[in-house]
Amino acid sequence: PAPGWFIAADVVVVGSGVAGLTAALRCDAAGLRTVVVTKAMLDDGSTRWAQGGIAAALGEGDTPEQHLDDTLVAGAGLCDEQAVRLLVTEGPDAVRRLIATGAHFDESEQGDLELTREGGHHRRRIAHAGGDATGAEISRALVEAVRARGLRTIENALVLDVLTDADGRTAGVTLHVMGEGQHDGVGAVHAPAVVLATGGMGQVFSATTNPSVSTGDGVALALRAGAEVSDLEFVQFHPTVLFLGPDAEGQQPLVSEAVRGEGAHLVDADGVRFMQGQHELAELAPRDIVAKGIMRRMQEQGAEHMYLDARHFGAAMWEHRFPTILAACRAHGIDPVTEPVPVAPAAHYASGGVRTDSQGRTTVPGLYACGEVACTGVHGANRLASNSLLEGLVYAERIAADIATRREENRLYARVPAPVAYPEQPVHPLLDSEARFAIQRVMSDGAGVLRSAESLERAAGRLEQLHSDARDALAENGKTAEPGVDTWESTNLLCVARVLVAAARLREETRGCHWREDHADRDDTDWSRHIVVRLNPDRT
Ligand code: SIN
Repeated sequence: PAPGWFIAADVVVVGSGVAGLTAALRCDAAGLRTVVVTKAMLDDGSTRWAQGGIAAALGEGDTPEQHLDDTLVAGAGLCDEQAVRLLVTEGPDAVRRLIATGAHFDESEQGDLELTREGGHHRRRIAHAGGDATGAEISRALVEAVRARGLRTIENALVLDVLTDADGRTAGVTLHVMGEGQHDGVGAVHAPAVVLATGGMGQVFSATTNPSVSTGDGVALALRAGAEVSDLEFVQFHPTVLFLGPDAEGQQPLVSEAVRGEGAHLVDADGVRFMQGQHELAELAPRDIVAKGIMRRMQEQGAEHMYLDARHFGAAMWEHRFPTILAACRAHGIDPVTEPVPVAPAAHYASGGVRTDSQGRTTVPGLYACGEVACTGVHGANRLASNSLLEGLVYAERIAADIATRREENRLYARVPAPVAYPEQPVHPLLDSEARFAIQRVMSDGAGVLRSAESLERAAGRLEQLHSDARDALAENGKTAEPGVDTWESTNLLCVARVLVAAARLREETRGCHWREDHADRDDTDWSRHIVVRLNPDRT
């Protein structure tokens, strides 16, 4: 439907995690009229759930160069070195600015930042807050800053589409707001710059560390707007997610890598450490290697999970350093102080996303992306632990600087907000909300940690069936699911799942977090390259 209301702005930020709120705060500080729209409440995204921390070369003896090296090794040959260089050199100051914004990180008695280690890092360089509640503290500080500055925010607002003008330039977004108040129903924010900061797509799998809102909306939106996405096959599975049973679905409790960083051991069903000898960093090898090590040992032992043993920490350390994880384990009847914690890999992070340049610009003029939704090139085939909060910060700041410069140079053109003609949009074949569960099962079964041509073909076939059923129902009898958050989420999940599976089928090698049973080796001859996708403009 044509929007029933509109507001005008210089920039609309879609999403409210570390990337979105940082972009919004910096745009506002640059004098840009900024509106933040978010699908649920301001602090409902993934940022709040981040545990381990934020990586930056802040410790004595550490340097951006060493951080760069670790990031490139984890990325398995597919990082954009220049993008990583920007991340690691601008990172330390970006963290200091976050602290100046109000985030409190854990400090030693001498008042220095306490830094921990995680997989793939050769140094202690992970700053953390509240022990293992880093994301919650960052989210609190940013939400408070946004409120203190009086930024315009619209919650419970699902963005439906990016508006473009006749020249293909971004003109704002349409959105469906569910709630009482001034803006309700379908409306639009008109703005010449749109920043996608919608987070990840973990909900495309049955078991994930991501909250229920992580449904790939930004990638689906960008694809519908004609933007390029890249590297979707590189889904990172976190090695140590609390195992709650083979049929557990939805968001699962994370057991941070920082627990291993502080000395916890991975042991098998016989209590034997199995990462030693597999990599020089043993339990602290890059995440893909640890996830594979766990999966292999599970297969060898016919086990559903492995164990993380940190009984030697003792109660005081557990309570002080990992209160969130301790509480989550105890809530599920496991006491890490006295028993090893059952863990298994689960979907955690999309290393790929909407393709951007070093200013966060996508291939659609005026459309930007930052945070998990983006593919800036810093993660390559496998993100280094705790680089994601940092990427959100650094690239959000770069985007705000780019928008501000363009405005100064008059390259963000002023537009008269109304009247606006809305081009006839094709009606989307929306999926039932229940389709979400079918998609998740198909993806976990066929495109999970371990993939093969056969499993991916099976997944692709089932996804195509879901897609054609919805399309046929619309074509034959005009039937489509009722528009709403659930049905749009299912539709977006299907859109990203199809692209992900197509990319995973193409990449006939094993690299980073893409693990092909039938192509067990890395193939630098054919596959030192990215898979970039742009959708056909028929938009269905
Ligand atoms: C963790 O705390 O293990 C998660 C860190 C990350 O995903 O970067």
